[in-house]
Amino acid sequence: MTTIDTDPDTGLDPLEFAVTRNLAAKSAADRDAILASPGFGQSFTDHMVDICWSVRGGWHRPRVSPYGPISLDPAAAVLHYGQEIFEGIKAYRHADGSVHTFRPDQNGRRLQRSARRLALPELPVPYFLQSLRELIAVDGAWVPSGEDQSLYLRPFMFAKEAFLGVRPAHKVAYYLIASPAGAYFKGGVQPVSIWLSEDYSRAGKGGTGAAKTGGNYAASLLPQSEAYENECDQVVFLDQDRNVEELGGMNVVFVYKDGTIVTPQSDSILEGITRDSLLQLARDRGHHVEGRNVSLTEWREGVASGDIVEVFACGTAAVVTPIGILKGRDFIDEQPSGTLALELREELTNIQYGRAEDKHGWLYRLDA
Ligand code: PLP
Ligand code: COI
Repeated sequence: MTTIDTDPDTGLDPLEFAVTRNLAAKSAADRDAILASPGFGQSFTDHMVDICWSVRGGWHRPRVSPYGPISLDPAAAVLHYGQEIFEGIKAYRHADGSVHTFRPDQNGRRLQRSARRLALPELPVPYFLQSLRELIAVDGAWVPSGEDQSLYLRPFMFAKEAFLGVRPAHKVAYYLIASPAGAYFKGGVQPVSIWLSEDYSRAGKGGTGAAKTGGNYAASLLPQSEAYENECDQVVFLDQDRNVEELGGMNVVFVYKDGTIVTPQSDSILEGITRDSLLQLARDRGHHVEGRNVSLTEWREGVASGDIVEVFACGTAAVVTPIGILKGRDFIDEQPSGTLALELREELTNIQYGRAEDKHGWLYRLDA
């Protein structure tokens, strides 16, 4: 049990997690073999965290248990109506062996915003932070130390009440699992090609686009398959007015020749924490930053005229990835290549891995 004080902001006492160790935990040799080349999202650590919620009991029965299948009633509401949300956040190993994560308060708050939209209970941020620390307390050895490697933490919450009526569930589960991670894209930090989805949208006005909920990702899978069929890595979505939204799992950022940085902003786009951090680092360098609509026409004409000098995608899993090609049904636009995306990537990862000063107080230690 980690000792944690009462939270000064919320007055909440820490939860008391019941810890059951995994007796079949991987040997150090097996774990090291996985950490040598983890890929993305393929292997999982030895333990998981869960906390129950019910209308009557609130948050209760916090546990750390061996990683394994979850038993669900076939009538569990999540299986029928998709009442589910998740987060993505990484733990980084510093040179001195310590383990840190990045702006977890932001992920905790975004989980709360997603919960509100999906009519799920809001997990207090101190409980969210505690869940991360509890998992690292038992699975800290799974945080890899190789270049660009991390332990990807996946908090999620779903409706587990067995009830087929369509209303917010009265019983909910919060879980946290973790997966050692290397590069998200097979080619590493190579420019990616993007397929423009013309027939399918990801989110609508007043919909769930700003929430991190499984349904948005389910809706992106068919257009993502279309992207693969067209030899593209990722898909980009437009809104009903043909403004650029985001990729299936990343935000988009445009760099203009006068140094202005523009990123689409609307209530149908996920507010990325990586993007917010990169934009802050750009502001620190003196760049002017704008969050506003960017139409497909502005993008294509800006690239053609040379007004747009760089386009990149960003998110926790993929960090920062330059966009090399935008491909539509009847065009292929090569994107200009610049240096800012990779410079900002370097600056961000230097902070995350403890190689540069954390001026904004973004790091949060998980193993102490
Ligand atoms: N947009 C979508 C649809 C995503 O899935 C993600 C990844 O989490 C992002 C944007 C970037 O968000 P963040 O930088 O917080 O990971
Ligand atoms: C992330 O970057 O954390 C994501 O959620 C993107 C994707 C893996 C779903």
